[in-house]
Amino acid sequence: MSPKKTIHLIAAARPNFMKIAPLYHALSREPWANPVIVHTGQHYDTNMSDAFFRDLLLPVPHYHLGIGSGTHAEQTGKVMIAYERLLNETRPDLVVVVGDVNSTLACTLATVKIRYADRPSGGGRRFPLPGNVNRAIRPLVAHLEAGLRSFDRSMPEEINRIATDTLADILWTPSADGNENLLWEGVSREKIERVGNIMIDSLEMMRPKIEKIRMAKQYGLEQGTYGLVTLHRPANVDEPAQLRAICTALEKITQTFPLVFPVHPRTRKQLEQNGYWQVLAQIPNLFLSEPLPYLQFMSLVFDSRLVITDSGGVQEETTYLGIPCLTLRENTERPITVSEGTNRLCTVETLLQHIAKATASKERRSRKPLLWDGHTADRVVASIQQVLLDAKEVMLD
Ligand code: UD1
Repeated sequence: MSPKKTIHLIAAARPNFMKIAPLYHALSREPWANPVIVHTGQHYDTNMSDAFFRDLLLPVPHYHLGIGSGTHAEQTGKVMIAYERLLNETRPDLVVVVGDVNSTLACTLATVKIRYADRPSGGGRRFPLPGNVNRAIRPLVAHLEAGLRSFDRSMPEEINRIATDTLADILWTPSADGNENLLWEGVSREKIERVGNIMIDSLEMMRPKIEKIRMAKQYGLEQGTYGLVTLHRPANVDEPAQLRAICTALEKITQTFPLVFPVHPRTRKQLEQNGYWQVLAQIPNLFLSEPLPYLQFMSLVFDSRLVITDSGGVQEETTYLGIPCLTLRENTERPITVSEGTNRLCTVETLLQHIAKATASKERRSRKPLLWDGHTADRVVASIQQVLLDAKEVMLD
């Protein structure tokens, strides 16, 4: 029997863990696959990382690169250096990167460069048609959650998305707009496969546990009577004027509607530096907390009346669950959550109006996007199997 195929799953930051978990579990069931978790350490606090591994039943990462915080160049550079070292020690058959964080791009760059390092000349000839997947090349890179675009290059994540999709060999998209964006950018159709939304796999995998927790009760709140807030994007929290306006809006909202706000470390730092933390902590109907583990957080989402967020993943989870979502951003790389789901883009000035509208309507309007069905990991495994095992390898030189 041929040796198992080694597949690196790159996990870096909080939103990555629920994307690799279903894939890790699905690959672990395959006799031909050896899934290996590589944690870059971009998020390192217990409640931003370890708690997610525990909740999602993941093992301790096989490799931990321990990168931590830094400027964008520092973080991206440190991950590249550390991951290149690991690739020199162990060559996987496939590297799977997810989402749009700095580590997604850094590991993609390290991988696509190292595969030519031991054959310095003529490497480019290995791709006879632009964009074709040359299955003989190792390691291949696959991007899970490919093709999403906010068309806003002031977002670091947009740069990471564009650069990763340009370099990756296999592009798994969550929705039709992902395919359209990639085709419009000139990517070969052969590289793209719509597989659905892997976050929904995690949600469905953990649903029985999520439904048992009833986290809202810990705040003395009943199901459907409160809002949940998550904010961490630089455009919202790193700008003092915007942060101040958001704090004022939250205070106004809590006069009639309780809010639970698990605070991201970036946001907490900014709130403390600007002197708003103490003010918020004293507002009676505003329940501040540390960032929460997956099950507890999702329990609060499940039971909320609405969600206020600037996160990407939360826009998708609320659409799937049919919970109104107010996204404090000018744009979204996930337009399907607006066109088919419950998501509304809003500004801090229009937030109160949107809340009044969302809480007035009894009906939970939502259409679950196609292939957001809890079986994305199975489709990804089938795709990997086809690329690594079934297809006849083409040696081009
Ligand atoms: C990162 C991702 C973003 C993702 C978000 C989810 C990039 C460019 N950004 O943003 O796409 O939506 O994660 O959370 O990759 N910090 C801690 N403890 C931690 C992690 C971070 O205290 O465990 C602090 C850091 O010191 C830093 C700040 O939080 O000051 C921001 O962390 P960073 O990894 O730069 O980006 P995020 O804002 O978390």
